[in-house]
Amino acid sequence: MSKNLEVALVTGAARGIGKATVERFLQEGLRVVATDIVPEIEFWNSRDAIPLFHDVSKAESWASILRDVKSRFGRLDILVNNAGIGTLPDVEEEDDAGWMEMLDINAKSIWLGIKSVIPLMRSNKSGSIVNVSSIFGVSGGFGKSAAYHASKGAVSAVTRNAAIRYASENIRINAVSPGFVKVAREEETIERAGDKMSQDILFRTPMKRWAEPSEIASAINFLAGKDATYITGVELFVDGGWMAT
Ligand SMILES: NC(=O)c1ccc[n+]([C@@H]2O[C@H](COP(=O)([O-])OP(=O)(O)OC[C@H]3O[C@@H](n4cnc5c(N)ncnc54)[C@H](O)[C@@H]3O)[C@@H](O)[C@H]2O)c1
Repeated sequence: MSKNLEVALVTGAARGIGKATVERFLQEGLRVVATDIVPEIEFWNSRDAIPLFHDVSKAESWASILRDVKSRFGRLDILVNNAGIGTLPDVEEEDDAGWMEMLDINAKSIWLGIKSVIPLMRSNKSGSIVNVSSIFGVSGGFGKSAAYHASKGAVSAVTRNAAIRYASENIRINAVSPGFVKVAREEETIERAGDKMSQDILFRTPMKRWAEPSEIASAINFLAGKDATYITGVELFVDGGWMAT
């Protein structure tokens, strides 16, 4: 195995944006550790894409992934903190369990991920972390999905905070914040919310269409890699113009 080949870890890599990101990284010649909580992750089983079971909300799961990455490669150049869930309850509909699950999977995971990879990146004197946040970390959206909005607000905030903490160690930390992306889970959620939300999404998105997962993967690839070596602490909206309105 070449010592010089860059290694990336992508969470939530079985489906959607994570899957598209692994595909893009493989095209770019990276070696990828693709992790997820679902068994479908096993289809990434090649010389360059290694599937591992990983619950991003659990510290012990991160510890086990990092042991594995360290023993296989001895380095980690890129982390994409992508895994996440979405739900619909508004402030009054949400309950304790829903709030805590959302914050654990979408926000605590980002802190755990950054904390877990920093020692290995530090030993390599460089690294790049891309956190997948959302326009809903900033925009109030449709007044639904209160816990989701809170979780993504946390992702965007910790991105800026950690970027400052590790900038002088040549470890860059940025966020990509998608608008609406054509993945099965999101389409099902919107279907549950009803036709009105579906129509409102297109009405409020200036480009009048949803993104393809590959369009989010392009932005992740840009921020993760060598074309962005002086960029840290930014949140790049990939949203068909939503945040400009
Ligand atoms: N699809 C959109 O419109 C959209 C918009 C904005 C932000 N995002 C964000 O993009 C990211 C990827 O979502 P997606 O749209 O591709 O959805 P997706 O459901 O297709 O993929 C998410 C993946 O995360 C995995 N996952 C869930 N909980 C996990 C856990 N505890 N540990 C490890 N893996 C876990 C799932 O198994 C799944 O494979 C999420 O952070 C999501 O919030 C998506």
